[in-house]
Amino acid sequence: MTQAASPTPNTVTHTATNTMADIETSHASANAVPDTTVTLCSSEAEKQNAQIRSQFPALHQMLDDYPLCYLDTAATSQKPQMVLDAMAQFYANDNANVHRAAHQLSARSTLSYEKVRDQLQQFLKAERREEIIFSHGTTESINLVAFGLTTHVSAGDVILIDAAAHHANIVPWQELAKRTGAVIKPIPLDQACRLDVSAYKTLLELKPKIVALCHVSNALGTVNPVAQLVQLAKAQGAITLVDGAQAVAHLTLDVTEIGCDFYVFSGHKMYGPTGIGVLYGRFDLLDTLAPLLTGGEMIKRVSFEATEFGSLPNRLEAGTPPIAEVIGLGAAITFLQAELTPQVQAYEAELVNYLQSQLRALGEVHLYGAFDDNIGVVAFNLADEHHQDVGILLDQQGVAVRCGHHCAMPLMQSLNLKGCCRASIGIYTNKHDIDRFIAALVSVKDLLL
Ligand SMILES: Cc1ncc(COP(=O)(O)O)c(C=O)c1O
Repeated sequence: MTQAASPTPNTVTHTATNTMADIETSHASANAVPDTTVTLCSSEAEKQNAQIRSQFPALHQMLDDYPLCYLDTAATSQKPQMVLDAMAQFYANDNANVHRAAHQLSARSTLSYEKVRDQLQQFLKAERREEIIFSHGTTESINLVAFGLTTHVSAGDVILIDAAAHHANIVPWQELAKRTGAVIKPIPLDQACRLDVSAYKTLLELKPKIVALCHVSNALGTVNPVAQLVQLAKAQGAITLVDGAQAVAHLTLDVTEIGCDFYVFSGHKMYGPTGIGVLYGRFDLLDTLAPLLTGGEMIKRVSFEATEFGSLPNRLEAGTPPIAEVIGLGAAITFLQAELTPQVQAYEAELVNYLQSQLRALGEVHLYGAFDDNIGVVAFNLADEHHQDVGILLDQQGVAVRCGHHCAMPLMQSLNLKGCCRASIGIYTNKHDIDRFIAALVSVKDLLL
């Protein structure tokens, strides 16, 4: 199978400083010697990385004859032992439903559950603990907001959506538009695959009701200047939501500084469990959201004539929540707060740059939206080979990458691609992983080209 699209000026490699000539040259440099201009990893950083990596049991396994080389953290991260222990400990000792019973076990589990809300308030630098809502993931968090805002939106209102958005940040807005008669308009990317700020400013003149942005693109790893973009949107009176699913494991967050009305993410991409997500909402606006789910836990009084809803945060957390997953998320936050130091963040940035430079040096590799400030992700195709073929052949050597449209079909269409491969790193990734990946890709290249 071959990839349908060949590189065009808006689909090819870019760095922050590239000229188009550089970009084309980087594609033509088949058989080039790997770039040695990127110096990587002081021995101190390597030591710290080894200490962090040792906490992730899943990484220390063989796949047939190959040690696992896990470069799919953007899809879901591996989990440190302390997250596994916290959840096992909860089920072994404290398991009880929250908020309900008078007994000690329930008091204990409620305390542990609510402590994670406090942790999140501090982690995100939110003003109030009631601004933190537990959901099942980013997807549910965005659905909570898009449904909850229904009565805020009227026919003809404009909803702006980042053209690089994940489907989770597109489809719930389309459904809102269907319910209300609102109009969706994508915020285009520029030729280099960054959000086009000047086009964005023009779209803001339409005085949109809602602006939905991603913090870090899951498909490309490009970073939006969210504080600046939110400020521009707020100046036009828009409600703003930032999808932080790909940012939260890598960046230090401050939702007050970003200034957005809503910030959403998933636990499983930040070393926590699946099945748990977070919705941060600015209190005054969050308090006006209609609940997506109704039932137990979220009420103050119920009769067959009428129901009075409870107050935040419970009003938006109907039913038994994912308690063990919240506890696991709490452990993941403790882990991140201890381990994600500025040095570790710098090491992650170096790894991404190293990955980009090694791919460029390989030749016959098309990189997409590759800037030197990308976070976590490198998107590429090997010549015109189908991304799925490349992924399967890499897997046969123990290298796990993601291949496909990355739940960003509109972005892929704008790049004239059916899909691409995505290598993504986490706090545990090391230089050896990148070298293993590149060596495996060299053998795929030898086989296919
Ligand atoms: C940027 C972004 N938004 C939303 C999602 C959806 O997250 P979840 O499937 O955990 O709800 C993802 C998952 O890949 C993502 O990367």
